[in-house]
Amino acid sequence: NPHPLDAPAVLAWYDRHARDLPWRIPPAERRAGIRPDPYRVWLSEVMLQQTTVAAVKAYFTRFTNLWPSVHDLAAAPLDAVLREWAGLGYYARARNLHACAQVVVRDHGGVFPATSAALRTLPGIGAYTSAAIAAICFDEPVAVLDGNLDRVLARYHALPVPVREAKEDLRATLQASVPARAGDFAQAMMDLGATICAPRKVACLLCPLQPGCRGTRTADPVAFPVKPAK
Ligand code: ADE
Repeated sequence: NPHPLDAPAVLAWYDRHARDLPWRIPPAERRAGIRPDPYRVWLSEVMLQQTTVAAVKAYFTRFTNLWPSVHDLAAAPLDAVLREWAGLGYYARARNLHACAQVVVRDHGGVFPATSAALRTLPGIGAYTSAAIAAICFDEPVAVLDGNLDRVLARYHALPVPVREAKEDLRATLQASVPARAGDFAQAMMDLGATICAPRKVACLLCPLQPGCRGTRTADPVAFPVKPAK
C-alpha cells in the first residue's frame, strides 16, 4: 500500500530545524526565491558520497576558496585537486569531479544542466547525485533516495523485508510524497535521517513523521530495516 509521507509536516519541521550547512540556502531564503549555486551543491553531494557531513565541511570550504567556480576547478591541475582531496578517500570520485568540471565548461558553457536526466550524463553523477542536484537547485519533483532514506522509510513502513526486496516500493512512496518545495523536502529528509531517525538512535517524539509512522508503534523502531538473511 502507498502510505505517503506528510510532506507539509516535514517542511514545517525543516523551516524550524534545518541544519546550517555551507552549501545550503536556509529555508527562509529559499522560500524567498534565492537558489543555491549548482556548482556548490554538486561539489557537496560528490563529497558527501561515503563521507560524513562533519568530515566534509572543512574540505568543502577549502575547495570553494581555492576554486570558487566550475571554471576554476576545470582549469586546476588534476594533481592539485587530488592533493586537496587527500583524506576523503575513493580517489575515483576526485578524478570524476575534475572530469565533470571540464565537461561542464567545455560542453555546457560552464552552466550545470537543469534536469536530473541531463545531469546524469556527466562523469561521476549517478541516480542519487543527479536527483539531489535537480531537486535542491531546481525543485525538480524527484525522489532523492540514499541509504539514510532507506532506513527512515523502512521504519516508517515497519518494512518486514530487507530494503533490497522493496526498493521500488520505497522509491514509489517517496516519489508520491514529493511536494512543490522538492529541494527543501529532500534536504529535510536528509536532516531527519541524520538527527531524528539516526542509525542506532531515534527521537520519535520530535519527529514530524511520527503520527503516520508504523515503526514507532513497534517495540523497537531501531530494529528496522531488517537485515538480509546471511
Ligand atoms: N547528505 C547528502 N547530501 C546532503 C545534503 N545536501 N545535506 C545534508 N546531508 C546530506
